[in-house]
Amino acid sequence: MPSHTQIVIFGASGDLTQRKLLPALYALSCENLLTDDVTIVGFARKEKGHEQFRTELGEAIGQHSRFKAEAGESGKYPWETFAGRVYYHKGNFVNADDYTALLKFLDSLTSENTGPSNRLFYLATPPSVFQVIIRRLGEAALVTKNATGDGWTRIIVEKPFGQDFETAGTLNNSIGAVFNEDQIYRIDHYLGKETVQNILVFRMSNGIFEPLWNNHYIDHVQITVAEQLGVEGRGGYFEEAGILRDMIQSHVLQLLTLIAMEPPAAFEANAIRDEKVKVLHAIRPYSQSDVNEHVVRAQYGTGHINGDDVVGYRKEPGVNAKSTTDSFVAMRLDIDNWRWAGVPFYLRVGKRLAKRVTEVAIYFKQAPYALFRSAGCHTLEPNVLALRIQPNEGISLGFGSKAPGTAIQIDPVQMDFLYETSFQDAQPEAYERLLFDCLIGDSTLFARRDEIEHAWDLVTRILNAWNAIPRPQIPQYQSGSWGPDESDDLIRKDLRKWRKL
Ligand SMILES: NC(=O)c1ccc[n+]([C@@H]2O[C@H](COP(=O)([O-])OP(=O)(O)OC[C@H]3O[C@@H](n4cnc5c(N)ncnc54)[C@H](OP(=O)(O)O)[C@@H]3O)[C@@H](O)[C@H]2O)c1
Repeated sequence: MPSHTQIVIFGASGDLTQRKLLPALYALSCENLLTDDVTIVGFARKEKGHEQFRTELGEAIGQHSRFKAEAGESGKYPWETFAGRVYYHKGNFVNADDYTALLKFLDSLTSENTGPSNRLFYLATPPSVFQVIIRRLGEAALVTKNATGDGWTRIIVEKPFGQDFETAGTLNNSIGAVFNEDQIYRIDHYLGKETVQNILVFRMSNGIFEPLWNNHYIDHVQITVAEQLGVEGRGGYFEEAGILRDMIQSHVLQLLTLIAMEPPAAFEANAIRDEKVKVLHAIRPYSQSDVNEHVVRAQYGTGHINGDDVVGYRKEPGVNAKSTTDSFVAMRLDIDNWRWAGVPFYLRVGKRLAKRVTEVAIYFKQAPYALFRSAGCHTLEPNVLALRIQPNEGISLGFGSKAPGTAIQIDPVQMDFLYETSFQDAQPEAYERLLFDCLIGDSTLFARRDEIEHAWDLVTRILNAWNAIPRPQIPQYQSGSWGPDESDDLIRKDLRKWRKL
């Protein structure tokens, strides 16, 4: 259990801190995974005292935590003890003096608590200030590069990590000048989800599936990340990002690498990340014409979501009326290695789609001979193994079964595993797992420098190809649909179709 640790959250009043980070730390405390000498210091620029911050924290936990911010019937929730260990430090990220004051404040807490202190800095701030915070931390001698008798220093950096290959490299260099690689935790909360962690367990601990996981048996793979939400008031941010940067570079490529990687030599951070990087390295790089042929982008227009009228992307607040920013991307990727040669990976990601669902679907090849053709069974559904990341977390396997009766009729049926019926315990939030892992020094679920840069390289090639088109056209799709016709054409030309979800 992490002890004697000071956690400094830059961006203490922000949305992420209030909705996810503080509730996650409280949950760890309720689960007895934080010792009583762990202190939390929120850093932001609004004027407020410790007590006001604790009151806001209580409200945030009341709204967003799976544990209550009160003593509980049998006093089992450690609310008072937890709140008493939370402090607020007012400062401006750009102001060097505010870091000197922070150091003094942290030292004063150390002498109160006695013993050496580990320090974890969490950058829950707009990405535009990541670099200045890192520089100031270094200048103020708040970072110890190697763990000493006085404890370790680590940093968690939120996404987006850069806007393209070049800016990600620059950010990596800036962090690398102040922290060693093993102190840097680049977070992607998807990796903290139980269902995502289960991908490796499912693949590599089940003798029935492991031998099938290759191009001998798998026809293709579909990864879908569909949202019903639009930009939800974050039009300004989304205009600069687009869904390719926002989702593909991080969450979707992470899913793809977990599906496609080779078994690591050990279940250990660097061994796993080495294998993930090899997959990214093996993805066939795109030329301009490949992008035109294999990547579709589009933008949502007006339509209906759950029966309500919704506006199109260009009418969202903060969005340019002539915007060409992508809110939907579909693409085909090929992995040029021994295991996956000839098995396309189709990715489909979008906002304002018909349903909220994140799923990986493995399509298996058909049986070698159509034995039942003479009985009129011409079109058998392929076997599909669907790993549902969210919602209705679980796994299903589709196969053909003889329908009862005198004739031979083959109907598709399903075997289903649902987390909520098989496991009664509530699933921890992704941020709980990731914060805990960082505190105990396990970086398995965090991205390494080369992983981030390979992913950006792939995405930047696509961005560059798009930018090279002098007058970009971007297809529109109706909100509440499954995307533009071009997306269906992309997969149809390979004689396949998107899975109906
Ligand atoms: N929100 C999410 O669900 C979510 C999900 C995934 C990733 N992220 C990432 O997490 C990060 C934070 O996002 P967010 O939505 O929480 O941002 P946010 O709500 O805009 O919060 C920004 C925080 O930074 C502080 N801040 C900004 N400039 C400052 C300065 N110069 N000096 C001192 N404090 C300053 C603000 O403090 P004041 O209020 O005092 O000005 C506020 O506490 C971003 O990188 C985002 O991409 C967020």
